[in-house]
Amino acid sequence: MKNVTLGLIGVGRIGVMHARNIVRLSNTAGTDRTITLKLTDVAAQHAQTVAADLGAEYLPDLDALIASGIDGLVIATGTALHPEHIRAGVEAGIPVFCEKPVAVNVAESLPVLDFIREHGGVVQIGHQRRFDAGYLEAKRAFEAGELGWIHSLRAVTCDMTPPPVEFLANSGGLFRDCSVHDFDILRWVTGREIVEVYARGSNNGDPAIGAVGDVDTALAVVTFDNGMIGTVSASRYNGAGHDVRLELQGSAATLLVGMDDKSALLSAEPGVSFPDGMPHLTFAERFDQAYLSEMAAFIELVMGERDNPCTPDDAVAASRVADAAQLSLETGQPVRVTGASALVG
Ligand SMILES: NC(=O)c1ccc[n+]([C@@H]2O[C@H](COP(=O)([O-])OP(=O)(O)OC[C@H]3O[C@@H](n4cnc5c(N)ncnc54)[C@H](O)[C@@H]3O)[C@@H](O)[C@H]2O)c1
Repeated sequence: MKNVTLGLIGVGRIGVMHARNIVRLSNTAGTDRTITLKLTDVAAQHAQTVAADLGAEYLPDLDALIASGIDGLVIATGTALHPEHIRAGVEAGIPVFCEKPVAVNVAESLPVLDFIREHGGVVQIGHQRRFDAGYLEAKRAFEAGELGWIHSLRAVTCDMTPPPVEFLANSGGLFRDCSVHDFDILRWVTGREIVEVYARGSNNGDPAIGAVGDVDTALAVVTFDNGMIGTVSASRYNGAGHDVRLELQGSAATLLVGMDDKSALLSAEPGVSFPDGMPHLTFAERFDQAYLSEMAAFIELVMGERDNPCTPDDAVAASRVADAAQLSLETGQPVRVTGASALVG
């Protein structure tokens, strides 16, 4: 029986979920491993409570966590702290799982990529949709050519309610924080690069979101390197539920990820009751299995049993599109996605 000890930093919204998933995986019957969880957070009392609830060990800070002897580091602190915490894990010579994105923008990500490369670091970035059954099927169908040639792609990510404004102020904006999942999955499903983005945004919710320089709703028209076109839309105020979908419309067939009885949609057609289940309310619920599989993959990565399912370079490629969308939003102009995004024209 092998033991894997994971250290986790940041037990906020998503960190608590990752901590619970690590415990769920440690209880999986039939595996040849045990998993020990240690965790830390600047909110010491909260972290101690989480640790006690989960049977994990609490440590006062990242240095103590690393010094205590861990085989892998899970980073779930806010985006602005990812570079510092990734460097610490890589310097300690252990595999790192870091929530998306690598840093608040591409410019701040590039030195992190250099550092990882120079130190031979292994870092998995948390784009959990790559483990979701629907997106996996979309990728398979696309690659098999079952949809014909694709004339339109429509990606949607809508939260029911916004996260705290303090979080938004350091998130990089709606495209970098939220739509980056869609930019990543569009690249992953199609195997194509997005080369141009044209974005618009609006603020009809809490004015505090506008006051920290963000929008609560946005839409981007994206163009791929093979001429395919699509849209990526996001909102923080989707009262119907947590709505995440991808529609691939082709010359032969149309495939929709996220259409089941829990879709946060109502049909306007008389006599149609589908979808009639309780909608997903949060990202944690919508992607429960995907987050669990993602963490299982990280444990396999730590044990040297698999390849990295989402490298930092791959994640930064999605962030380039997010940066371009943000620049388009700010300038009102279409923007080319390049090494350094540039206005079209
Ligand atoms: N993959 C996804 O679907 C998904 C969903 C939500 C958030 N995220 C990402 O996860 C990250 C965290 O988001 P969140 O919503 O959980 O944020 P959060 O603010 O709820 O949690 C961050 C936690 O980090 C702690 N923290 C801050 N500074 C620290 C430090 N120096 N040392 C230790 N702990 C520290 C805070 O006390 C807090 O508990 C963000 O980068 C976000 O982009 C990803």
